[in-house]
Amino acid sequence: MNKRQIRTEILDRRNQMRNEQRELAEATILKSLTQLKEFNNAHTIASFVSFRNEIEMRSINASVLGAGKKLVLPLIDMTLKTMTFHAVSELDTLVRNSYGILEPNPTIHEQVGIDAIDLILTPGVAFDQSGYRLGYGGGFYDRFFSELKKATPSIGIAFECQVVVNLPIDAYDQKIHGLLTEAGLRYFNQ
Ligand SMILES: Nc1ncnc2c1ncn2[C@@H]1O[C@H](COP(=O)(O)OP(=O)(O)OP(=O)(O)O)[C@@H](O)[C@H]1O
Ligand SMILES: [Mg+2]
Repeated sequence: MNKRQIRTEILDRRNQMRNEQRELAEATILKSLTQLKEFNNAHTIASFVSFRNEIEMRSINASVLGAGKKLVLPLIDMTLKTMTFHAVSELDTLVRNSYGILEPNPTIHEQVGIDAIDLILTPGVAFDQSGYRLGYGGGFYDRFFSELKKATPSIGIAFECQVVVNLPIDAYDQKIHGLLTEAGLRYFNQ
């Protein structure tokens, strides 16, 4: 299967999850995340806002703030094909973009340099057993990871139904360090 076919299949699988199953998985993931050393050691955490039926990130983002950490969220520029991260201290100040996704407002949410980030909670459509990920196809996270100057830990956050054995890989695809699902945390050799 090519990347496009895998995206369709996995999004389909994720759509079929029942509400109770989702909520149980989300609660398990939140609890495990807050117990991770990467979470507890981080001062600044890059997270994301859920898109469509992605895992609910609001309670995770609220926990980052509740733990007294700096929460930074992505802002995508479709024309420039860039992704910047901005500090958000109140989730209610996010604004809805033309795709319906909540995002920071760069006039009130200050941009934070990528090397100031201590942990990157990473979204994705599909993840494989070696640490490769497949996003929605924009290449935003691949570009972002390739620009990092240090080995900042990156942990994918997803449901177990989004995990496959092997993903098709292009030269620019970047690996993540770990993957957290309701089945637990996996670490990958880099
Ligand atoms: N480091 C890079 N520099 C320039 N272009 C890149 C880079 N990495 C990826 N791209 C471009 O991004 C496009 C989409 O890549 P891909 O299909 O792997 O996206 P994805 O991994 O699903 O997206 P994302 O990383 O946003 O989750 C490709 O056409 C590729 O040329
Ligand atoms: Mg990619």
